[in-house]
Amino acid sequence: MAEKVVEIKNLYKSFGDLHVLKGVDLDLFREENLVILGRSGTGKSVLIKIMVGLLKQDRGQMQVLGKEVSKLPTRELNELRLKIGFSFQNSALYDSMTVRENMEFPLVRNIKNLTRKEINHRIEDLLDAVGLPQTINQMPSELSGGQKKRIGVARTLVLNPEIMLYDEPTAGLDPITCVDINNLINEVRERYKTTSIVITHDLTCAKMTGDRMAVLLDGQFSSIGTFEEVFPHAEDQRVKSFYDYNFIES
Ligand SMILES: Nc1ncnc2c1ncn2[C@@H]1O[C@H](COP(=O)(O)OP(=O)(O)OP(=O)(O)O)[C@@H](O)[C@H]1O
Ligand SMILES: [Mg+2]
Repeated sequence: MAEKVVEIKNLYKSFGDLHVLKGVDLDLFREENLVILGRSGTGKSVLIKIMVGLLKQDRGQMQVLGKEVSKLPTRELNELRLKIGFSFQNSALYDSMTVRENMEFPLVRNIKNLTRKEINHRIEDLLDAVGLPQTINQMPSELSGGQKKRIGVARTLVLNPEIMLYDEPTAGLDPITCVDINNLINEVRERYKTTSIVITHDLTCAKMTGDRMAVLLDGQFSSIGTFEEVFPHAEDQRVKSFYDYNFIES
């Protein structure tokens, strides 16, 4: 049986009278790509914020790499966060820094005693992995939206995370660039053996990148399984409507 990297049990989170997560259960296994789908405002981002300790659940369990996140003292929480690469929805590159400086920033801030050679090697390897070695000295303003996303992924990988969290990686991109990003997510997994959660509204992205789909509906995961198990024959109209409103090539 594959190792559980994340184990969520009966998790609740409300903001005042707004009950967002209402008994969420979910397991994430090592080296799988799990896709989370759900309408806007269902709590997908809240869930991954609890996962990295930016928000605390009201009750229930959120175990990441064997540790209950909400109970970790600051130092251990910081150590755990170094193992999780999270790129938040709309998270941007620093506009006043070159691509190289953007990549270097998390590296030198978090890992002491790296030599210049090690830093350069790591940055060059990652830019190569995302297919953009030629952009190293460019400013973010000189890059396209798709290129920025790629550099964002490279920057997230710079600390060698075990878990990658992608919050809407293809939002705002044209369909062909979306496919490039989906391929990149798969290549990252191959190359760096990461375990990933991909949050998306895009069923093509879901189908391309996900080993399993989990649909968040009314505060719980209503269906969890492969794309084929969850979508084409969904009985729940709310799940089916996701499928019906997306164009899927069969
Ligand atoms: N810090 C907060 N304080 C109060 N309410 C919040 C907070 N964070 C999120 N919410 C509310 O929780 C609900 C879920 O938000 P969340 O950002 O998780 O949605 P989402 O599923 O990621 O949606 P989208 O697909 O639009 O990104 C929303 O109604 C939001 O307004
Ligand atoms: Mg969100």
